[in-house]
Amino acid sequence: RDAQESRGLGDVYKRQAKTRRICYMEKKNIDWANIGFGYIKTDKRFVSNYKEGAWDDGVLTEDDKVVISECAGVLQYAQTCFEGLKAYTTEQGKIVTFRPDLNGERMENSCKKLMMPVFPKEKFVDAVLKTVEANAAYVPPYGSGATLYIRPYMFGSNPVIGVKPATEYQFRIFTTPVGPYFKGGAKPLTIRVSDVDRAAPHGTGDIKAGLNYAMSLFNIVDAHEHGYDENMYLDPATRTYVEETGGANFIFVTKDGKVVTPKSGSILPSITRRSLLTVAKDYFGLEVEERPVAKAELKDMAECGLCGTAAVISPVGKIVDHGTEFIYPKNPSVLGYTLLPEKYRSRRIQLYQYRDNKHRQCKYGKHNGSHNHIKYSFCPKPRAAFYQDVVIFPDLFCPHFIGKVCPLS
Ligand code: PLP
Ligand code: COI
Repeated sequence: RDAQESRGLGDVYKRQAKTRRICYMEKKNIDWANIGFGYIKTDKRFVSNYKEGAWDDGVLTEDDKVVISECAGVLQYAQTCFEGLKAYTTEQGKIVTFRPDLNGERMENSCKKLMMPVFPKEKFVDAVLKTVEANAAYVPPYGSGATLYIRPYMFGSNPVIGVKPATEYQFRIFTTPVGPYFKGGAKPLTIRVSDVDRAAPHGTGDIKAGLNYAMSLFNIVDAHEHGYDENMYLDPATRTYVEETGGANFIFVTKDGKVVTPKSGSILPSITRRSLLTVAKDYFGLEVEERPVAKAELKDMAECGLCGTAAVISPVGKIVDHGTEFIYPKNPSVLGYTLLPEKYRSRRIQLYQYRDNKHRQCKYGKHNGSHNHIKYSFCPKPRAAFYQDVVIFPDLFCPHFIGKVCPLS
């Protein structure tokens, strides 16, 4: 099905081919290895306006300022949604993006639920690639530990004072080079079970609405102040099932080696998770379960990790539930061992690793320089540090693109 869908993306391939040609251009002079997850202004952004029932063609502009009415729908009633994805430089020097079509699809769903006009998936992908291409000098070099974060977003722009949808909208995409989302690099995360809910039952938890993130701000600041990296949100109706964190999904591995991830109508369907589950099931032959995960099961899990575009794959070392600690020490590589065994080598799945540069030393041999990170994935006995920043992405340009992972050809 994915393969069929991807065939319709002919223009995307052409655009990607173009991107491919220009990607050898000189990169900006940025200390890639030491940037955090912050905003660095890049040269160009994409802007398209919706008026009188139609989107215009959109343009790339250098203007990073947004001018809207003081009464704009987004300012009064938070009518806004967004997406997040990344562009990478491959070892061969190509620039690739990770499943922009799925982000486009998810944004369509967000728009529908927020009574916003859909920005069609095909236009979305084209705009993403145009924006990346225009900022190619900011796509961090291969092995630098950084990536180019792409932020598409849309908001109601005309004055709205009665509670109703806006009639005019702006869709924009900016890019910014980013480093690791979690401070401390390879250190397994400590997460607390939250007393606050992120999303209501049958609410907006399953879409990428700005309001979901506004809801979580108090709680994330509070978690950090208390020494936790993130909050584990529970199902808001019964508070007995695991949902997700403020910006990533959970993946668990049971003691008998099953990969388990929460199923819920109020969590964001992670594109990273989707790919990981596919890799686990179709390439590693692991048993995969997407099902409600009771909080009571935390004590029985062997491994726990977070996954997401920003979060990549980050191991969770400890979950604290009001004084009760669940520690996952048995296998400190967390998802490393289970999801990335040596098996994948024979399958030739393309995996790229973007790691904290401070953790370059491999227990099983020293790798020097910044251009051989791929070697880490071939370490016979990988350690946690080497896998906490794994990113799996298909090369959209690959003719064998199967929509999940792209085997090297
Ligand atoms: N859950 C939430 C709440 C998120 O904000 C994100 C990030 O986009 C994710 C999960 C992970 O989704 P993805 O892998 O598509 O980035
Ligand atoms: C992403 O991973 O793209 C997100 O939007 C999550 C956010 C916490 C940065």
